[in-house]
Amino acid sequence: MSNWKETSGESKRRWEVNADFWDERMGEHSNRFHREVVRPDTERLLSVNEKDRILDIACGNGNFSKRLVELGANVTAFDYSKKMIENAKKRCSHCIDKIDFHVVDATNKDDLEKLNINAPYDKAVSNMAIMDIADITPLFSSVSRLLKPGGIFVFSTIHPCFQSPGTRRITETEDVGSSVLTRHGLQVFEYIDSCCFEGIGIVNQPVPQLYYHRSLSQIFDLCFDTGFVINGVSEPVFEIDNERSRFDWNKIPPIVIVRLLKIESYK
Ligand SMILES: C[S@@+](CC[C@H](N)C(=O)[O-])C[C@H]1O[C@@H](n2cnc3c(N)ncnc32)[C@H](O)[C@@H]1O
Repeated sequence: MSNWKETSGESKRRWEVNADFWDERMGEHSNRFHREVVRPDTERLLSVNEKDRILDIACGNGNFSKRLVELGANVTAFDYSKKMIENAKKRCSHCIDKIDFHVVDATNKDDLEKLNINAPYDKAVSNMAIMDIADITPLFSSVSRLLKPGGIFVFSTIHPCFQSPGTRRITETEDVGSSVLTRHGLQVFEYIDSCCFEGIGIVNQPVPQLYYHRSLSQIFDLCFDTGFVINGVSEPVFEIDNERSRFDWNKIPPIVIVRLLKIESYK
């Protein structure tokens, strides 16, 4: 896998700049994209049980950590942005006894050791973050070590087939019989090579973030190499909305959600 470790400092600097904006936009209950596309299948795949110990990876402002507590879990949550964690602690002040927040860099194996404190975990979750993490190998190795045998790791990420710098959204208009048909779609120019690129998670955010494109096979190979099998997958889309005249991710999935199971024999 490509080594972008050296970009991690710049990526973190940008997340610190974006942290308050992100907190304000995500609020207590996250934004429409998360509520309608990310959360329903994440929660289904994670299937939280009362008293589950769950690790929330790159937790941002902690809105999903709070949701996990509402579902009955005890949560350990981390992000490498100090400001994100400060905001998360404020957002979760009423349930802070159920969430142990840490500032940890997921690209740093030694830093990840701090999470041993509440291990082993029953489950781990990472919402829309692995595409923001410069090097995911230390994270997947650590999560595998930190989970109980048979533990579950659910992650969501932008769909690498349909959201990469090698894609372009297109609109085609065609005369069909007596009517005019308008279709929205994607052109894919490049997919297989990994790359680092700048992009916007939320319109008007102060600075663009750094994204790390990896093909599905690169991501899945890492899962298999770190002792996981895939036992669930979802490619959610928005419900069709009334506004049919624009590309709105209701026929093509903007994200992919994967559930991993830690194999019993993995050390
Ligand atoms: C798109 S946000 C998602 C936040 C949260 N999971 C959510 O769904 O609202 C990505 C998060 O990843 C964090 N992040 C990026 N690289 C990281 C790293 N190396 N270690 C820890 N957190 C990281 C950022 O600070 C940011 O909070």
